[in-house]
Amino acid sequence: MTAVGIDAIEIWTGKLQLDLPNTFAPAKGEDPEKYTKGLGLETSSFPDTYEDIVTMGANAAKRLMDRRDLSPDDIGRIDVATESAFDNSKPVSTYIAGCLEQVYDGDFHHANKGERKFACVAGTQSIDDAYNWIRAGRNRGRAALVIATDTALYARGDPGEATQGAGAVAMLIDEDPSVVELSTEQGYGSADETDFLKPNQQFPSVDGKRSMQVYLARMREALEDFESVAWDTHPDDFEFIPFHTPFPGMVRKAGLLGYRHMIRGTDIEDDLEAEIGRQPRESEYDSWDAYEDAIRDYMDELKRTDRYRDWYGETIEPTLGLARRVGNWYTGSVHVARAASLKHAAEQGVDMTGRKLLVGSYGSGAQAEIHAETVRDGWADEVSALSIDDQLDRRYDLDFDEYETVHDAHNHDLDAEIEEFTQPDGEFVHTGWGRMNERKYDYVE
Ligand code: HMG
Repeated sequence: MTAVGIDAIEIWTGKLQLDLPNTFAPAKGEDPEKYTKGLGLETSSFPDTYEDIVTMGANAAKRLMDRRDLSPDDIGRIDVATESAFDNSKPVSTYIAGCLEQVYDGDFHHANKGERKFACVAGTQSIDDAYNWIRAGRNRGRAALVIATDTALYARGDPGEATQGAGAVAMLIDEDPSVVELSTEQGYGSADETDFLKPNQQFPSVDGKRSMQVYLARMREALEDFESVAWDTHPDDFEFIPFHTPFPGMVRKAGLLGYRHMIRGTDIEDDLEAEIGRQPRESEYDSWDAYEDAIRDYMDELKRTDRYRDWYGETIEPTLGLARRVGNWYTGSVHVARAASLKHAAEQGVDMTGRKLLVGSYGSGAQAEIHAETVRDGWADEVSALSIDDQLDRRYDLDFDEYETVHDAHNHDLDAEIEEFTQPDGEFVHTGWGRMNERKYDYVE
C-alpha cells in the first residue's frame, strides 16, 4: 500500500507576543513561576491588527507552496480547521483560496474546500479527511492542503487568559510523503462533554479544571482504543509523543498517564517494583474510588523515578519547545508539537528516518484521537526549512496596556480602532469589510 501522510509543513505565528512571567503575571499580581513552572509557558503569540485566521493561514500556505514550487493545479482540496471562524456559512478555506489566487497563476476552482469543526481535534480530523480522500483514489494525483488556524483568545479575567495564542500550521497531505506516514490504525475516546464551548460567542465558556480531567479521560480511552486495533504500546516504541498542548503543564499530566498505562505488565513495571511497588489492579479494591486513590499514589511515586524522568525528558519535553513560546493554537497545537519534536531531533543530529511517533490529539466537547506516524527520509530537509525561530524572535513585545488594546481590537463586540505594531512585509493582510460584511484581504509586497 502506498504511504500517505504529511509531505510538507509550514508554521506562521501571530506577530505580537505577550511575556507571561514578566508582563502578564505582575499585572495580575501573580507569581511568575505559576507561568514558567506551573503552566510551563514563557510567551504567547497574538495577531497584529491586520492579522486574523485567514491571513495567518494564507501566509503559512503561501510559504509552503513557494518552498515546494506548487501551483493551484497541484492542490485538489483545501480544508481549514478552526474554532475561531467568523461566518456560519462561508468557509475560511474560500477566503484563503481567494488570497492565494491573488499571487499565483491559475485558480482553485477544481479544489474541494471545507471547514472542520471539533474544537482543537479538527486539525487532525482534516488530515484524516485528506488521508481518506487520497486512499479512496479520488485525488486525481493531487495533494490536499490542510490549514489549522486559530486566534485562541479568552475573555479578559478568565483563567484561560493565561493560555492564549494565535497562529497557523499549513500541511500538505500526499502520497509518498516526505515528513511522516500516518498509521491506518487510530484510536478514539469521544463523549458528549460540556468542559469548553463557544455557543455562538467569540470567547469560550470554560470549566478549566474539569476540562483537564476530560482531556485525560478521553486520551486514556483513545489509547486503549488504539491498542485494540494496533498493538500493546511500550514507552520504547516511540521516539517522541506529541500531544495536543493547551499549555505544557497539561502535557506533563498526559505524559505521566500514558507512561503509567504503557508500562503495565512490562519489564519496566518489573524493574520499578523494588522502588515503588507494582501498579494497583482494579480487582484488588472494593470500590472504584479506592482504586483511583491508589493509582494516584502510584503515579506520584512514578513521576519521581529516574526511569520516568529520563523517558519524559527524551520523549515528551522536546515536543514542548515551541508551545512554551506560543501558547495554545487550538487546532494547530498538536501539529506545532510534532514540528517541535522533529526540529529538536534535527538540532541534535538524530536520524529520525523510520522511527515512530505516537500523536495524541484532543478537542474539547470532547474527543481524543491517537495514531502512530513513521518518519520519512525527507523529514530533515522539511524541518530545517522552517522559519519559526526567526518569526518568534521578530515578534513585537507588548506591554500590558498594549496587550489589552490588542485584545479589544480583536473582540468582535467592540469597535476598537488601533494602529498596527508591526509593518507587513511580503504577506496577506486584512484590509476591511465589503458590502455584504465579507472580509477583504490584500497581498502586501
Ligand atoms: P488557574 O486556576 O489559573 O491555575 O487555571 P492553577 O492555580 O491551577 O495553576 C496552574 C498550575 O500552576 C498548577 O499546576 C499549579 O500548582 C501551578 P498543577 O498543580 O495542575 O500541576 N502553580 C505554580 N507552580 C509553581 N509556582 C507557583 C505556582 N502557582 C500555581 N507559584 C487552567 C489553570 C488550566 C484551569 C486555566 O488556565 C484554564 O482554564 N485554561 C483554559 C482551559 C484549558 O486550557 N484546559 C486544558 C484541557 S482542555 C483542552 O486542552 C482543550 C482546549 O485546547 C480547547 C479546545 O479543544 O478547543 C482548551
